[in-house]
Order: sequence, then structure tokens, then C-alpha cells
Amino acid sequence: HPSNFQEGGDVAINKANCRAKGGAPGFKVAILGAAGGIGQPLSLLLKMNPLVSVLHLYDVVNTPGVTADVSHMDTGAVVRGFLGQPQLENALTGMDLVVIPAGVPRKPGMTRDDLFKINAGIVRTLCEGVAKSCPNAIVNLISNPVNSTVPIAAEVFKKAGTYDPKRLLGVTTLDVVRANTFVVSLVVVYLTVEFPSYYYTSTCWCMFFFFFLQAEVLGVDPREVDVPVVGGHAGVTILPLLSQVKPPSSFSAEEAEYLTNRIQNGGTEVVEAKAGAGSATLSMAYAAAKFANSCLHGLKGEAGVVECAFVDSQVTDLPFFATKVRLGRGGAEEIYQLGPLNEYERAGLEKAKTELAGSIQKGVEFIKK
Ligand code: NAI
Repeated sequence: HPSNFQEGGDVAINKANCRAKGGAPGFKVAILGAAGGIGQPLSLLLKMNPLVSVLHLYDVVNTPGVTADVSHMDTGAVVRGFLGQPQLENALTGMDLVVIPAGVPRKPGMTRDDLFKINAGIVRTLCEGVAKSCPNAIVNLISNPVNSTVPIAAEVFKKAGTYDPKRLLGVTTLDVVRANTFVVSLVVVYLTVEFPSYYYTSTCWCMFFFFFLQAEVLGVDPREVDVPVVGGHAGVTILPLLSQVKPPSSFSAEEAEYLTNRIQNGGTEVVEAKAGAGSATLSMAYAAAKFANSCLHGLKGEAGVVECAFVDSQVTDLPFFATKVRLGRGGAEEIYQLGPLNEYERAGLEKAKTELAGSIQKGVEFIKK
């Protein structure tokens, strides 16, 4: 309905009075890049979040359609759409949380760093808008290369005098989601490799084994698994700490190598499968919604909300690093240390740091120059 678009939603918003369904305090959330492959399913998922009372959808194209569509969902959040740069200020004013999936995705053969040229400028413009219109909002930055776009955002905020390191979070949740999934499915992969004829000729037995092994031997549902993934969000900078997996499990050297490679290349697996039609969008929207939900629970003042994120950090000698952080009213209120690493992880950490240093520097220089 047109009243959901641009200026016309004010009455509805005042009535919502920043209360989510059920009378609980709700938050105002903006998605920048809302009409994209990630932005659309993310809009849907955040419209379903009971902690969201107002949802602003901003993009440079197609927001009227996405807004009309999502606004018909019978959930509590009031949805408003904003189209193009002149409406960025209205989209951002008063927001508690800003989620940014704007920018171009990878095509086969590209690295995340290849996106820098286009996405660096997009992130700069959007963060200038955040600094001007909602300087106290928590920012969830998804646009790649995250290892460089987070330093870009930090420099923009420093320039504007609004930088609060706790409020700027690079979203690495998809790496954690993949790690949790791949750890559970490792057993099935081994079945296919070790017993191919058995696997293919006896589907029923295989299904039995699949569920038996998942439920009984591993004893876990992927949602109960927690693999900390530290470092950054590209190639070797993605460092899963399999030695710290919960529930505790041990992996052979070959298993750790296989899992680490698969987690580091999970994005490329999707890019190649989509064959030119983009990168991960659905699993990413799920991961972004999960992370945004944790940020909102933190904003609400709940205790013990912990996620991995790429943040301003003193855990290593690099200015930014992804580790577990505790989310609270002020954003990333506590940054956890790495914990004990095994030899394989220590070697991975050194490789990750070398690549990360260059990506961070590239982002900082983009704004300083
Ligand atoms: P997409 O191309 O489908 O959507 C991007 C959207 O951003 C488009 O609707 C486009 O109009 C919009 N956009 C472009 N310039 C804009 C601007 N100045 N202001 C507002 N919106 C603008 O791309 P997709 O697949 O949604 O990916 C978005 C970004 O997320 C990419 O950079 C991708 O690499 C990154 N990504 C990050 C992941 C992570 O784990 N952090 C995982 C997957 C993707």
C-alpha cells in the first residue's frame, strides 16, 4: 500500500509507538540494500522478528515492490520503503540497528577482494549517512570484502566524530553457520567416500544410518553445535577453531584439514553452483537475521548473548579481528580472547593475520587518501 512507502507511514509508526507485538519494547531496524539477493529474504525474516517494531527498507532500485510485498505479512513490524540517495536520510533517522547488505556479489573466479572497487564506495556513502542520521545505531556490515569494508566504515565514522568501536560489527555469522553444519555432516560424507556401493544401493539403510549417526553417535542437532570461527571473512582468514567445538568432539588431522578447507571455501562452493547468478543469499539472509536478532537481544539488555563478529579488537596485534563477542546495550561490550589453540590452528592464525593485515590497510587507505 502507498502509505507504507516513503513519508506516508508516519501515522502507522506513531501508533506502533515502537512497541512490537505483545507490548514488548521493539526496535527500529533499517536494511540498506533491501531489494538484493540477501536483502529480500532478510527483509522477510526481520519482518517476522517480534523484537522489530519498525522496519525501513532502503535500496537504489525496486524498494516499492519489496516494501509492498513484505508489508502484507501479518506480523507486528511496520514496514516503510525508501528509494535512492535522496531518501537515505529518512530511511536512517531514528534507527537502532542498521544492517548493510548493499553492493555487488561475487561471480565464479572472483575473490571477495575483487569486489573492493565497487563496494568500498557504496559502503562509504551509506556509512556517511549513518554518521549523519543515526550515529548511535548498531551497524551490521555484510557487504564484501568485510575484511576491508569494516575498516572503511570505521574511518568514515572517525572522520565524522561518531566512531564507537563497540557499535560496528562485521557479519561473519555465515562462516559459523557453515562450520556448525559441516561438522555434523562430516559423518555422512565419510559414509559416501568409505562405503559408496553400500550407500547408493541401500538408501533405506543409509537414511537409517544418517539419522542414527546424527542423533545417536554425534548426539547433536546442528543448531546445538558451536564452532568458534575467528580471524576474518575471506579465504585463509576464516579460521574455524575445531579444537573448541561444543559439544566437545575430536577430529583427526585429515578431518580438521577437510573441514577447515570446506568452511573457508563455503562461499566459493555456492558461487560456483550458482554459476554466475550471484553468491550465497538465502543462507546469508538466515545468518544475518540470526546475528541481527542477537544484537536486538543484546540491545534489550539480555545477559549472555554471544556471537562471533569482525570488530575493532586488541586480541591480536591487528586493529580488527573476528572473535566471540558479548552483545549488550552498547553493542560488542566484551571481546573474548582466542582461548587455547592447537598447532594446526596456530599455523592457520599466522596465515590469517598476514592476509588480514593487507586487507585492513587497504580499507583504511581508501578513506585516508
Ligand atoms: P545483490 O546484487 O543481489 O544485491 C545487492 C543490492 O545492493 C542490490 O539490490 C543493489 O541495488 C543494492 N545497492 C547497490 N548499491 C547500493 C547503494 N549505494 N545503496 C543501497 N543499495 C545499493 O547482492 P547480494 O547477493 O545481496 O550480496 C550483497 C553483498 O553481500 C555483496 O557484497 C556480497 O559479497 C556480500 N555477502 C556477504 C556475506 C558475508 O558473509 N558477510 C555472504 C554473502 C554475500
